[in-house]
Amino acid sequence: MREDDYYRQTLKLLEESYLAADERGDLAGGSGSGGGLARWQRKRKVIAAAFDHDGTWLDVGCANGLLMETLCEWAADRNVRVEPYGLELSQRIAERARRRLTRWAERIWSGNVMTWMPPMRFDYVTLLPELVAAELGGAMLVRVRDQFLKPAGRLIVSCYRPGAAPGLHDRGGRSAPRLLFELGFVADGFAEVHDDDGTLWTSVAWLDRK
Ligand SMILES: C[S@@+](CC[C@H](N)C(=O)[O-])C[C@H]1O[C@@H](n2cnc3c(N)ncnc32)[C@H](O)[C@@H]1O
Repeated sequence: MREDDYYRQTLKLLEESYLAADERGDLAGGSGSGGGLARWQRKRKVIAAAFDHDGTWLDVGCANGLLMETLCEWAADRNVRVEPYGLELSQRIAERARRRLTRWAERIWSGNVMTWMPPMRFDYVTLLPELVAAELGGAMLVRVRDQFLKPAGRLIVSCYRPGAAPGLHDRGGRSAPRLLFELGFVADGFAEVHDDDGTLWTSVAWLDRK
């Protein structure tokens, strides 16, 4: 698939459903997660393990900004102060996030992780492997590490439902450390959470810029 087609396909798959969920007050659905806020917390809170000191954070693929909101609270529970920023491929979803989070409207940008030029550098950047086609995974990590992060910044990769069957935008059941390894990187740390039946639910791994 051509690169542009991949992004077009991404928007076709999720834009309307994220916007519709957000409109009806389903905030987790507006960020691509079914099952409401309690389930959201069980699946996403593990990401806070990667935040061990105060700093600025860019969520690449921020959708309606729910992770920006909730992760700051989870980090604060660990005595870590995080200043959130967001980047979103869909202009319409980014606009929705700005309207919802007016206090952060100036720091929610619309753009593609592979072409956008950040106006500043961040202590932390979070992203998902499926933001780009599989063959561009390594290039995305290098680009974000070299152009988005501060010199000692941390790049955090989350794999949601790595235990599930692969679809167009999934990465074939890989945990985040394994995925990084296959792309030529060795994780500096990782954290995971499992479903009640033991299935790996969310796997997070990070790389520290050295
Ligand atoms: C599943 S949501 C993630 C929400 C939140 N960051 C989280 O981790 O729960 C993925 C978002 O990434 C956006 N996205 C997809 N490809 C992207 C790209 N190439 N650059 C920037 N954002 C992208 C999508 O439009 C979508 O809103």
